[in-house]
Order: sequence, then C-alpha cells, then structure tokens
Amino acid sequence: MSSTAGASDPVRGPERPRFPRIPRPRLPRARTPRPESSAPSATPATPGAGPHGEAVLRVRGLVRTHRSEGSAVRALDGVDLDVDRGEFVAVMGPSGAGKSTLLHLLGGLDRPDGGQIWLEGRRVDGLSEARWALLRRRSVGIVFQFSNLVSTMTVADNVELPALLAGASARQARTRREELLGELGLADKARAVAAGLSGGEQQRVALARALVNEPGLLLADEPTGSLDSRSTRDVLRLLTRFHEQGRTIVLVTHDARVAATAERVVSLFDGRVADDAAVESAPRGRRTTLADVLELKG
Ligand SMILES: Nc1ncnc2c1ncn2[C@@H]1O[C@H](COP(=O)(O)OP(=O)(O)O)[C@@H](O)[C@H]1O
Ligand SMILES: [Mg+2]
Repeated sequence: MSSTAGASDPVRGPERPRFPRIPRPRLPRARTPRPESSAPSATPATPGAGPHGEAVLRVRGLVRTHRSEGSAVRALDGVDLDVDRGEFVAVMGPSGAGKSTLLHLLGGLDRPDGGQIWLEGRRVDGLSEARWALLRRRSVGIVFQFSNLVSTMTVADNVELPALLAGASARQARTRREELLGELGLADKARAVAAGLSGGEQQRVALARALVNEPGLLLADEPTGSLDSRSTRDVLRLLTRFHEQGRTIVLVTHDARVAATAERVVSLFDGRVADDAAVESAPRGRRTTLADVLELKG
C-alpha cells in the first residue's frame, strides 16, 4: 500500500507549484470531472446535499478485499456514508473492522474494488495517483495510524515541507509550523530528527504536518493512539479549534473520550456500518464538551 501523503507525495516535479495561494479552507468545487480524470465518463454530477447540509464526503457501496498469500479478507463490505461540511465524525469499531481501510480509501491511498466516493461532489475513486497527491496536498490532511514521517528529516522540515510544496513562502511555512508545534507542546522539538522522537511525539508531528496546509477535510487514524493524557488534551484542543473553523474531521479512535468530542459516531463491524448516531446521549444528557474532557485525568 502506498504511504505517500504530504511530505512524501510522489508528485513534486521541478515545475513551480500550480496553486500558489494557501490556506485553502475549502475543497475545490469541481462538479464536472476533468477530461483527463480517470473517473468514469458516466459519472453523475454531485449527488447533492444531505439532509443536514452539504455533503463533503459521500460514499456508496464501498467494497475492498485485501488479498495476500492465497487468502482474501473483505475489509469493507458495502459501506455507505455521508459526511456534511463541518461535521466532526468519529469512526469506531473493533480491531479488524475495516476502519483503517476506509480511511485509506477516503484519502486516495488505496483503491476500492467496488463502490463510489465523491469529495465535494466530485467523483474521486478513479482518480490517478498524481491527482490524488495534489488533492491531498491542497485539501485533505491525513494522519496515519503509524506516523509515516520522513525519519531522517527534522521535525520542522517534516511539517514545513507540505506547505512549501503547496506554494507557501518559507516564512509562511515557518510561521504555521511554529504555531502548530507550539499548540501541540512540541516547540522545543523543532530541530530534532524525527526518528529520535517517541511514538507519541511522532504522532503529534504527523498531525501538525496534516494541518499545515489548513485542509478542508482531515482524515485521522487513531491520532491519539499512543499519547498520554496531556498530549491527548493538546490534540483535542487543536482538533476542536480546527473544527470550529468550519472544517470537517473524520477520525478513527478507540478512545471513548475522544469520540465524545465528535458530533457523530459511526461504528464499523465486519466491514459494514453497524451504527451511525449523533452524540447527544452522553452522561448528564448532553454532549461531552472539550471542557469536560480537559477535566478528565488519566
Ligand atoms: N494490506 C492488507 N493485506 C491483507 N489484509 C489486510 C490488509 N490491510 C488490512 N487487512 C485486513 O483487513 C481487515 C480490516 O483491516 P483494517 O482496515 O486495518 O481494520 P481496523 O483499522 O478496523 O483495525 C483485517 O482483517 C485486516 O487483517
Ligand atoms: Mg486500524
């Protein structure tokens, strides 16, 4: 499976960046597939807005079977999902349920065997690697379960590189990097080489990297999986701020406290959506707020 996103995107030719202005808080609206797109020409236009607003993500009948050494595992078995603009969705489910597979497909890091994916009304499941790389650089931030930093580069360079590739000036890239690392409690690690960081530190650097281009959509696979409670709070605070700016988050987590900060929890089981519910029946009859989470210890 490709693990290219952000800093390690394969598309970084010598030409000048074609999209010099960032931040770009919204995904590009391209309702008609471009001619060079490999998406089927019969692609319908956007399926339209969902009942709650405008669909940033729309998934229909998604199927993905992993094959290795003669055996086949159907990791996703017909997933339907709509995510509206500005929603904060937590994806939960037992190990092996298909959560990571789903996120990889949504980020264009893997291809489905069946089904369709629309991003901002644009059919994307058939896009080429190169187009996906551009889309990720500009509009979709991804945090992997395993951070996939460039291990030989410094923390600062890991975070700044996607910004520079997207056309930010060195100064803009540095400013954003300083801001993000500061919020994540990593200001003093900027000059450290990524390989020398702890797992939790690497995870936070990966989050900073995913957010440096201020994407409209963040896909994060267990971004607090190896964090202590203080670092988890830093990450939740940053995600909350990002969400409050109207951006969309789809976050895989095992942590009920993290899920409780989302507006909606989608549960996967055996490659299918087993439950999809708004978060409103938290203890004390209301959603857990960030303030509640900050109160939690341990
Ligand atoms: N590259 C792969 N090759 C073979 N099987 C895989 C691969 N990736 C995932 N799987 C299998 O697909 C199923 C779903 O995996 P995954 O999406 O990683 O689940 P989750 O993230 O919910 O733990 C599991 O049974 C897993 O073993
Ligand atoms: Mg996983």
